[in-house]
Amino acid sequence: MTLDTLDLNLALLNLCVSIDVTVIHESSDCQKELKVPMTNIIPASVYQRRDGLTAEQFYVQYQHSIDNPDVFWGKQANLLDFSQSWQQVYTGDFSLGSSQWFVGGTLNTCYNCIDRHLPKHGNALALIWQGEQESLVKRYTYRQLHEQICRLANVLTTYGICAGDRVGIYLPMIPEAVIAMLACARLGAVHCVVFAGFSAESLANRFNDISCRLVITAEQSIRAGKTLLLKQQVDIALTQCALVKTVLVVSAGQNSDWVDGRDIDYQQAVDQASTDYPCVMMSAEAPLFILHTSGSTGIPKGVVHRTAGYLLYSALTFKVLFDYQPGDVFWSTADIGWITGHSYSIYGPLANGATVLLFEGLPTYPDASRCWQIIDQHHVAIFYTAPTLLRSLMREGDGYLVNSSRASLRVLGTVGEPINPSVWQWYFEKIGQSRCPIVDTWWQTETGGVLIAPIVGITPLQPGAASQPFWGIAPALMDDQLQVLTGVASGNLVIQQPWPGLMQSIYGDHQRFLTQYMARFPGNYLTGDGAKRDEIGTYWLMGRLDDVVNCSGHRIGTAEVESALIAQGDIAEAAVVGFPHAIKGEGIYAFVTPKSGVLPSMALKQALIRQVASIIGPIAKPDVIQFTENLPKTRSGKIMRRLLKQIAAGSDDFGDTSTLTDPAVLTQLLRQREIED
Ligand code: WT7
Repeated sequence: MTLDTLDLNLALLNLCVSIDVTVIHESSDCQKELKVPMTNIIPASVYQRRDGLTAEQFYVQYQHSIDNPDVFWGKQANLLDFSQSWQQVYTGDFSLGSSQWFVGGTLNTCYNCIDRHLPKHGNALALIWQGEQESLVKRYTYRQLHEQICRLANVLTTYGICAGDRVGIYLPMIPEAVIAMLACARLGAVHCVVFAGFSAESLANRFNDISCRLVITAEQSIRAGKTLLLKQQVDIALTQCALVKTVLVVSAGQNSDWVDGRDIDYQQAVDQASTDYPCVMMSAEAPLFILHTSGSTGIPKGVVHRTAGYLLYSALTFKVLFDYQPGDVFWSTADIGWITGHSYSIYGPLANGATVLLFEGLPTYPDASRCWQIIDQHHVAIFYTAPTLLRSLMREGDGYLVNSSRASLRVLGTVGEPINPSVWQWYFEKIGQSRCPIVDTWWQTETGGVLIAPIVGITPLQPGAASQPFWGIAPALMDDQLQVLTGVASGNLVIQQPWPGLMQSIYGDHQRFLTQYMARFPGNYLTGDGAKRDEIGTYWLMGRLDDVVNCSGHRIGTAEVESALIAQGDIAEAAVVGFPHAIKGEGIYAFVTPKSGVLPSMALKQALIRQVASIIGPIAKPDVIQFTENLPKTRSGKIMRRLLKQIAAGSDDFGDTSTLTDPAVLTQLLRQREIED
């Protein structure tokens, strides 16, 4: 941010104005004219910060963090306890993807999240677990969590897990998930959580990618009254994972299909284990965890996060962005299988000694009042969720708000996709009763923590805008010709300087990390998102510019869905794109060409959908399948997805189609389009 923007932001404090900004995209990827929505700006003064941070302090500190990052991050590192202090804040070459943070330092993540709080804070609540049934509640103080983590760390050691080993975790939203991640961190093992909605096939690919020998899972999970058999998926996956020798199973008492010598009852094992386990001090740069995310190829990337940098960044952003104060109960609805669950249900809050709420059920079950009931019941002060959930709750009507007061709420947050201004207004006025600011947090699995978000009590709130960079974050907009765009502009969002939360690498493939993120705009981290900046310097996120669909806040690679469709056997070709979807944000639209001799049919559609669910998981099921004889291709045979996206969205404004072999395909596809507007 320039000083001009800073002045503007300061000038905007306490103002309440309307804006209507039209911005012309300058990059060739985004030729369309885009309108920033007409929205009211809510003055920053709607909220008084409790940590006393003023706007002047924030912006002066911001400038300092950009001009003198080493001094800034060196000072912030006091948030963590190192067992051996670091000698250098940062070394490396950002453009070569070789950054190292807090060089020479050693520390343990579990020590920072749990042990150091014990002397003064041991009896404070660390975790409140709410099961799907209202009566199912478990509470853990920091001391109780410590005991459980030590027990599990001992069990892991018994089964041969040492520092540096990878451990696969496939668990629902239960306390054991938190315990498992922190037990790995305690002994220096690298956890790799796979979202419990992924299928056996995805699970096997991820476990094989990290070559793990031990897996922690649960027999089942209950969602919306239905039992999901998780261990059954693990059993199928492990037929393809020869390296896995031990499976710790959180049992539901069924113990069906138990594999002797491999499957171990989690509870029995931890009950017999000692409650002492010294933290293994790790290098600041040691990997803390791996989390897979989709990209533009068919193979998910194992994003590696490092120990000190990641922990510091998630802890600092948690504290400042949510204006966290001791005693606050923090609830993020994101599953622990996603980065939000890692950074803001576990590492960020626990490093700050906060109380985290974990909810196993479905937020819309038994009805749309469930979240608000839980907020009242557990006195949640900070609530963090995704626009897709808000849209589905808003659709149910305000009748579901009358039996809760939500009086404990102070700050609201959103993450995962742009929030529609109308949904933002509903969230602000109805849920937060016009007194709770909304932190629209933009970030990615790769970035470790939030990079762009309004600073509550400091930034005027523009509904639908993630707004402004956090300390240490230098965003820029660039066109496809590598020119930095200034002032009001839109283009590729890049980050120009390193920050400690940035991923270290892609597991086993550092070259892919360099190619995907660091090569296209040399010296900059490429986010893959398009964004625009309005005349007061506010950033508006516009969605992915690569072949990734953001479906209900989940990132799904179109190439992965295409491979799954082809694998069904009846399809010669498939092209998958996103399209606007009222609840999911983006839905999945598949254009498929059957093999010759195969007739398009409803049964084939269903078989294709089943195939995607079984290869990737139910979250990747196409919403629409359109059969077609032809796809729009260039003379060199490349499918023009830009045009398919337009067809899926119902637009006939195709622009230049001269590179197509047969432009008539477009009108034909549009005529046979499968969605009613
Ligand atoms: C992609 C990252 C970060 C945790 C959740 C998703 C989109 C994320 C916002 C936001 C607009 C957003 C971007 C980004 N995104 N937050 N506040 N406004 N878009 O993590 O699966 O790594 O996906 O989600 O497109 O690149 P992820």
